[in-house]
Amino acid sequence: MKLPEHVTICEVGTRDGFQIEPDFIPTERKIEVVNLLSDAGVPRIEVTSFVHPKVVPALRDAEAVMAGIRRRPGTRYAALVPNDKGAVRAVDAGVDAIHTVLSASESHNLANVNMTIAASIEKLRAVMRVAERARVAVGCGISTSFGCPFEGEVPIARLESVVRRLVDIGARAIGLADTTGMANPRQVGRALEHLMARFPGLEWTLHTHDTRAMAIPNILAAMECGVTHFDSSIGGLGGCPFAPGASGNVCSEDLVHCLGAMGVETGIDLDRLIAASRRVQEIVGRPLPGQIVKAGKFTRRYPLPDGVAARLPGTGA
Ligand code: COA
Ligand code: ZN
Repeated sequence: MKLPEHVTICEVGTRDGFQIEPDFIPTERKIEVVNLLSDAGVPRIEVTSFVHPKVVPALRDAEAVMAGIRRRPGTRYAALVPNDKGAVRAVDAGVDAIHTVLSASESHNLANVNMTIAASIEKLRAVMRVAERARVAVGCGISTSFGCPFEGEVPIARLESVVRRLVDIGARAIGLADTTGMANPRQVGRALEHLMARFPGLEWTLHTHDTRAMAIPNILAAMECGVTHFDSSIGGLGGCPFAPGASGNVCSEDLVHCLGAMGVETGIDLDRLIAASRRVQEIVGRPLPGQIVKAGKFTRRYPLPDGVAARLPGTGA
């Protein structure tokens, strides 16, 4: 396998995950989780979103969360925004980076942000200006990049046209999001090969959901293409409220464990990440989909069953 030595993880659980939690997570608990993730050495955190508070009431405390977190040097704190109003709020709240959102499919874009793709592009043009003035980085995410729950498979040509429109308004970092876990590894590989050849020099991120258990295989396919940025979610929280059938992102600690086992560095302290995931389970009050919290790391060993030790060849028994 052709794997990079190092990948950069962006934790999105407190945004993609907390946005869809049925019970409001108290602001203090959100701050606590962001701080635990920082302490684990996570290099990028999408802390919250600056969207309409009536549309996503779970994140209506975005300003208070940004104001309350401890800023670890070395971690980049970002927030998701759909328009310039959100960008101004995010900049005022002191984000290091803005992550924008629009979809590759018209129906999901309308359902999610109440605009056509063309109208979204105009809003994002204004977002780019706000970000430039404030000198904050921008990453442009594309929801339903590979498949849309309303329209089905998204052809590569359509995805390419959305990437081109983003590049035309100044995007230099593009996130391809598989919003409802429809993509498969071969499709991800083909799309990335196609796009990376046409748009050299961009920073590519893959944002996966494990809805159909293809998230880590898709990440492996993207790494083989040279992608080194991935979004993931603590415990496997996550899901878009405006995409039917959406479920959790790839689980951060499962991904970091898998990468570590293969010798790919993330700079993240896996034990602290696992501890953070346990705390998040307490906060949301239910077990989360992550596997490593249940199984332990691959280095876990169990005591031998009765009588087996004495019968092991070569032990002198
Ligand atoms: N934050 C807070 N308020 C906002 C806002 C933002 N980012 N953007 C717009 N508003 C306010 C406007 O000021 C206006 O307020 P007013 O009625 O008091 O004048 C009102 O919302 C309507 O503005 P409009 O531009 O017509 O927005 P809309 O009602 O068409 O909603 C979005 C568009 C994008 C703001 C809304 O659909 C949204 O927040 N979507 C986010 C969805 C999301 O987070 N999905 C999950 C992540 S993938
Ligand atoms: Zn998502």
